[in-house]
Amino acid sequence: MKKKNGKKYKILFAASEAVPFIKTGGLGDVCGALPKILKKLGHDVRLVLPRYWSIHKETYGLKPILGPLGIPTGDGIVWCQVLEGRSDGFPVYFIEHENYFGRSGLYDDGHWEFADNPERFGFFSRACLQLCQDLKFQPDIIHCHDWQTALVAPYLKIREQHNPFFAGTASVFSIHNIAYQGTFRADAYGFLELGRDNFTDAKFENFGGINFMKGAIFYADAITTVSPTYAKEILEEPGANGLSVYIRRRQEDLYGILNGADYDHWDPETDELIPANYSARDLSGKKICKQALQKEFLLEARPEIPVVGIVSRFAEQKGFQHLALVMHRILRDMAVQFVIVGSGDKGQEDFFGGLPALYPGRVGAWIGYHNRKAHLVESGADFFLMPSLYEPCGLNQIYSLKYGTLPIARATGGLRDTIIPYEEATGFGTGFLYYQGTPATIYDTVGWAVSTWYDRPRHMEVMRKRAMFQHFSWLDAAKQYEEVYPKALRRRQTWQP
Ligand code: ADP
Ligand code: GLC
Repeated sequence: MKKKNGKKYKILFAASEAVPFIKTGGLGDVCGALPKILKKLGHDVRLVLPRYWSIHKETYGLKPILGPLGIPTGDGIVWCQVLEGRSDGFPVYFIEHENYFGRSGLYDDGHWEFADNPERFGFFSRACLQLCQDLKFQPDIIHCHDWQTALVAPYLKIREQHNPFFAGTASVFSIHNIAYQGTFRADAYGFLELGRDNFTDAKFENFGGINFMKGAIFYADAITTVSPTYAKEILEEPGANGLSVYIRRRQEDLYGILNGADYDHWDPETDELIPANYSARDLSGKKICKQALQKEFLLEARPEIPVVGIVSRFAEQKGFQHLALVMHRILRDMAVQFVIVGSGDKGQEDFFGGLPALYPGRVGAWIGYHNRKAHLVESGADFFLMPSLYEPCGLNQIYSLKYGTLPIARATGGLRDTIIPYEEATGFGTGFLYYQGTPATIYDTVGWAVSTWYDRPRHMEVMRKRAMFQHFSWLDAAKQYEEVYPKALRRRQTWQP
């Protein structure tokens, strides 16, 4: 429900990815969906992104605006161009700079991180502030996300503290994943112009190098992260990847807000990317989706065999290195099929990509990023496996619930906050949770899910329906952000340099 007479804010979202323009993971989903809902709540929201080479001007009708934008850096003024587009009724600005963003890949070339990432994203963060001034858009809040736009928060305090233009602007820094901190060599520090005195352990210094996220944790007016459980996990090690001391210092200003799902894109009743639509009242379309999934991934067309789906980045966080250790045993011992869509770690790509040849008709795999296939897996599979070692929020399990595809997951971070553990005695729950992140527990829990499929079909049926009625709305999340913004503004006023 729209908050009556609630204050309406001017909000700039500064992000490195956002749907529909560009996405490598959940960050892109969030930075596309949250501004949209805040706009619907009546706020003046705008989004700024880098204009990567793959974002085509023609596709999105991007038009140049303003004159050349001059960004101060330690190497002098760097000039760039601003393009404007729209998304769901709000303006989206793109910072165009051929040297920094005119290449394929967002953060790496597929093998190695780009060596100039500190310059690229330091420049981008300052460009966000310059853009506001050239546009004469005085935001109440600049909401920045992860290491890529982390520096916006320190720049506001270090370089713009006495700039009247930003006198009423507070920063909110959202941590989507504390394992990626933006740690770089110290020699980029001069370019960044963050102040010689700030190269200290409490602020930017990190084992002799620079740490972007550490700086934002120190300087942001409010810090949020993407689930209540993860907000607790990052107060301790190993959850905080070495930053727990700094997070604890800001505990008063830390908020855990669970992500929502964008059901405009992820709802089996309306999803245009799946072969048949369905709902909890009529699941017949799900059978068609399963048939199509089995066909597309060259699996045996057997409706009675459960299909376990996987859609993921192959990164250490996701835990597939543990699954790999028990995969052959699972396939030897259980009557189950697997469909895997993923990319990332080359060893895991080879391992999972090689399984269809070893288990024809039982395992299907697509190595790469493929949005339609991701939707097909969500709709056609019976289970969805997420063996994450940690998971700040996780969106796939939220989508899976809506598609009646029961998650099998480790009870960590947002997985714990969104999945109700199955109780075998009563049939209650929405998924299969385990606690210890080991290969053996993955084997056992997949076995538990598969045996539930064969031995307790009634439980499967009621869990599926219960799962589909779970609703994680962006509206709820947006209302919580609406409460954080005034707190950030108050903190801004009491900030002591
Ligand atoms: P993370 O951001 O850590 O990767 P999330 O679960 O929050 O994890 O979000 C992942 C998002 O990226 C989901 O929307 C998921 O569907 C999508 N995704 C991940 N890997 C792939 C892939 N190989 N192909 C298509 N979509 C993918
Ligand atoms: C990160 C996290 C993921 C979260 C996403 C969006 O990529 O790994 O758990 O869902 O950000 O907040």
